[in-house]
Amino acid sequence: MIIFGSFGCKPQIETKNTLLQKEIAQKVDSVLGLMHLEEKIGQMVQYSAGWDLTGPPSSESAQNKIDQIKKGLVGSVLNVVSVKEVREAQKLVMENSRLKIPMIFAFDVIHGLKTMFPIPLGESASWDLELIEKTASIAAKEAAAAGLNWTFAPMIDVSRDARWGRIMEGAGEDPYLNSVIGVARIQGFQGDDLSHENTIAACAKHLAGYGFAEAGREYSTVNVGEFELHNTILPPFKAAAKAGVATFMNSFNDIDGIPATGHKELQRTILKEGWNWNGFIVSDWGSIGEMVGHGFAKDKKHAAEIALNAGSDMDMQSYSYERNLKTLLQENKVSLAHIDAAVKRILTVKFQLGLFDDPYKYCDEEREKNNIYTKEHLAIARDAARKSIVLLKNEHAILPVSKNVKSIAVIGPFADNKDSPLANWRAKATYNSAVSLLEGVQAKVGKNTKVYYEKGVELTIPTVKPGENQFMFPLQMNTKDRSGISKAVAIAKKAEIVFLAIGEDAYQTGEGRSQTKIGFAGLQSELLEAVYKVNKNIVLVLSNGRPMDISRANTILPGILVTWQLGSASGNGIADVLFGDYNPSGKLPVSFPRNVGQEPLYYNQKNTGRPSNDVHVTYAGYTDSKKAALYPFGFGLSYTHFSYNHLKVDRETMSSEDKITLSVVVKNIGNVAGEEVVQLYIRDLVASVIRPVKELKGFQKLLIKAGHSKTVSFVIDKELLQFYTINKKWEVETGEFHLFVGGSSATKLKQKITVE
Ligand code: BGC
Repeated sequence: MIIFGSFGCKPQIETKNTLLQKEIAQKVDSVLGLMHLEEKIGQMVQYSAGWDLTGPPSSESAQNKIDQIKKGLVGSVLNVVSVKEVREAQKLVMENSRLKIPMIFAFDVIHGLKTMFPIPLGESASWDLELIEKTASIAAKEAAAAGLNWTFAPMIDVSRDARWGRIMEGAGEDPYLNSVIGVARIQGFQGDDLSHENTIAACAKHLAGYGFAEAGREYSTVNVGEFELHNTILPPFKAAAKAGVATFMNSFNDIDGIPATGHKELQRTILKEGWNWNGFIVSDWGSIGEMVGHGFAKDKKHAAEIALNAGSDMDMQSYSYERNLKTLLQENKVSLAHIDAAVKRILTVKFQLGLFDDPYKYCDEEREKNNIYTKEHLAIARDAARKSIVLLKNEHAILPVSKNVKSIAVIGPFADNKDSPLANWRAKATYNSAVSLLEGVQAKVGKNTKVYYEKGVELTIPTVKPGENQFMFPLQMNTKDRSGISKAVAIAKKAEIVFLAIGEDAYQTGEGRSQTKIGFAGLQSELLEAVYKVNKNIVLVLSNGRPMDISRANTILPGILVTWQLGSASGNGIADVLFGDYNPSGKLPVSFPRNVGQEPLYYNQKNTGRPSNDVHVTYAGYTDSKKAALYPFGFGLSYTHFSYNHLKVDRETMSSEDKITLSVVVKNIGNVAGEEVVQLYIRDLVASVIRPVKELKGFQKLLIKAGHSKTVSFVIDKELLQFYTINKKWEVETGEFHLFVGGSSATKLKQKITVE
């Protein structure tokens, strides 16, 4: 049996874990036996404290919160960060409450605490699981050093609409990629032992469907059928449960009319019973109370009843449990068994974290001083930055640029921007602390190279003071001030090459940042056209948190690099790629559309009864745009080229219990060493529930020297071929499958196999 829980599920340590689990279960039972009803309900309450409110500000006074904590009536707080503050808050409960049950301290550590790594979507473009686990482990180490013991990450929502602002927080449009990356992040945060001083509890979010919000509209309704839910949305959550993630977070959206927070089938039937997962579920911010807004609960009392019965264990910041569970129990609307079970789950995680042994174990000033924003962490941030970059276009080998080039013009609102690369969800990053592109370029070139810089246009007009938290507030775009364009044109005229740094501000993506347009906002297109008139030798260095509409730039510019928001070491990472110190190896985790009208756009679509036809109109597609993406999922160039040959299988038929080995020879046919992400896709040709035209099922990232080849093998088995069938079970159906291998989802290299 696999043991779920905070210790991961590595079979070799199962026995030790089983003993630990038993020991913890006994301790949890004995603590529970001492608790009054109010204290039990208190464990199910989470308050936001500190200054980083991430939702509608609460009306509760700070004093009221302190009083409740002192009485031991709060199980957790979020947004209290730093050893000093965490210690003070923990003291309130440890020095005043009857039972002295330590609180658990949570924070959104999404892509780093102070050392910022690339946004999750960008880092996913590295397809480098070791790297991703490493950056999560550093984020955990920094968070743990700042007194924290729980992060609300990773987000593993499969998302397919570029308009949705939160697309930046996940691993993109594919269920398999979200699963393996989610698991790597969980392992990075939690390690093998949650009680270790450098590890913290992770939170798989948001269960479920948030990434399918209608038209990419934030917080909106989700309409997916049962098969889409099981085959596309849930696999990353199942993988997270299996990997032993300590907590789950539910979601703001409804699915087919049932709010996820009140969704019993999702939380109780599938997650807790079906997957036998034993951590606890926290609501999203206020999402229990928001069931009133949805029109699903008549008031917060009713909402509390629905949420607990559906399996939500902890109420983040809606006060619905705190104020109503006692009465609901007296009225027999909820059961003591459900309350006890929720409290047990919460106490279990606290024991696993070691908080009962030492409530202040994450409060160590020495660690806080020495373990945050270190040189070592920044070096890994640089490596993560360059590995996340995707080269989309490189005509006439415009890149890499020689370090002895005579002159470079670095132009655009992101050219010398030291703040936007820190991205949204920037935790405790220092304002303006990233290495800008200009700084990265200047550090790279020799003294004979002249580097010119002009911003050209401001993208935004400030709506908050410099350094103030923009999280809650809208941006205002500059649509009038063109005064800098002529200066940009002047330097473009004299430069051999232009690095044009345009794209999106950090706060155009993230929570509450859905957009109907995904092109260059403000005056950036005017800047592009003006510069292009005087110099055609332009590399677009795109800043972005989502797939953008870059069609016009793609038509006219010879070079395009997707650089997302890359974090603290951004400019150095980009310069490594621009000048060839690192050969780009990133591959898109999301399709780049031709225009916003193609959204939602994803490679793993179904075929329809009328696949496209170039001659007639009566086929699936559009009359004013091609159906295919501008750049598909899995795409990314290198400074070298790879060929794929000798695709073969060891046999062409198998039973559902057998295995087939597929192999292919990948050769580096260029002049420099490079890394290639070799991708495996399948198509199940005829099925009881129609299957996508391609589904990613595996990948390997390999470094191959110039002129050398490597043979890559994939094992095709039941695990890989199964899906949630018409029988409502995960099964392999007999029949023909196509196996595709290549360097992107557009690969046509295929092999047929049959399952008998
Ligand atoms: C977001 C969550 C986040 C929480 C706490 C919510 O608004 O949806 O993803 O973890 O706030 O900050």
